[in-house]
Amino acid sequence: MSNNENAFEKFLKNHEEEDWNASLTELLPFIHEVDRNATQIWFKFYPIKLFRVLQESAEPEKLIQKFVMQGKYKLADQIDESHVFLYGHRYWSQVKKAVEEYAVSFQPNGHEKLSNEICKVAKNVSEQTKVDESLLVGITAVAFMTLVQVGLPAMKAASGKMLIDAKHAKLSPEKVLAQRAKDDGQGIFGFLKTVDKQWTVTFNENTDNSFKLMNEEEIASGAAHDNSKDWKAMDERCIEGPIPVECRSASCGTCWVGVLGGAEKLGDVKRLEGRRVKEFGYIDTDEKKPLIRLACQAESYGAVSIVIPPWNGFWGKYVRKMEEGETEEASTSMTA
Ligand code: FES
Repeated sequence: MSNNENAFEKFLKNHEEEDWNASLTELLPFIHEVDRNATQIWFKFYPIKLFRVLQESAEPEKLIQKFVMQGKYKLADQIDESHVFLYGHRYWSQVKKAVEEYAVSFQPNGHEKLSNEICKVAKNVSEQTKVDESLLVGITAVAFMTLVQVGLPAMKAASGKMLIDAKHAKLSPEKVLAQRAKDDGQGIFGFLKTVDKQWTVTFNENTDNSFKLMNEEEIASGAAHDNSKDWKAMDERCIEGPIPVECRSASCGTCWVGVLGGAEKLGDVKRLEGRRVKEFGYIDTDEKKPLIRLACQAESYGAVSIVIPPWNGFWGKYVRKMEEGETEEASTSMTA
């Protein structure tokens, strides 16, 4: 992040995690259903709290090691691609340009509200592109947060390219939602089947990448049978199948996923998973069917669509200790 922040960057910088959460809650009713889960998942994948802790640390490299962070966790390294799973990614280039222009022309009056500013830019883009505003609010919120974490110069330097192929890019939001809602047929005697039912887990809607798993099987177990590609060559965390795994027992946090569609078709979060996701720092909720799950724990009872984050780490427990007043050194000297 540049030290020469402009007024807009300073305005955004004044918002902490709670402010972003509150703004997102206010915006959700205005985000099209196709991106309501995706936007919430994106904000869990790129948390401002983790970004700030690393940014403000005197020894970020040491913290990164303590948090056992693996993969691509820096937004600066994926400005154009981090949000490819949002439907609104299709409009990234227009939204990115509009946010950059807004950032330059911003004249603060001291009464700005984050959610209003996001809606204002989304409305501008909607008027220019004739795209429904509800399809632009989520991706505009993402662009605002990206600006916070990468700074205006880096954002401007990114190409703004849309990364979905033509066939998938032209799918309507309704079609995407219909595909997410579809369950696998089980044949004409499917109603007699019990344990041998099979379900599809789509893990990249833009390429139709998917694997099958048995009824009640955990998502990560199903993924392990998928040898259709050299997943390790694409992401070295993938030792078997497309979902990174290590422990398979809710201990390492490697296998977290976001659930774009079908969260209600996964088994309830059990005590161990519920406790560990908070300790990892991924999500802080007691919901039984949240949008963030550990793939080694979540059993499937139907077809689901997930998104695999490009990184994993174990930071929530340590950051909580730091917030409670422990020094960085003391909090990160605890054992997992
Ligand atoms: S593989 Fe370690 S938490 Fe799931």
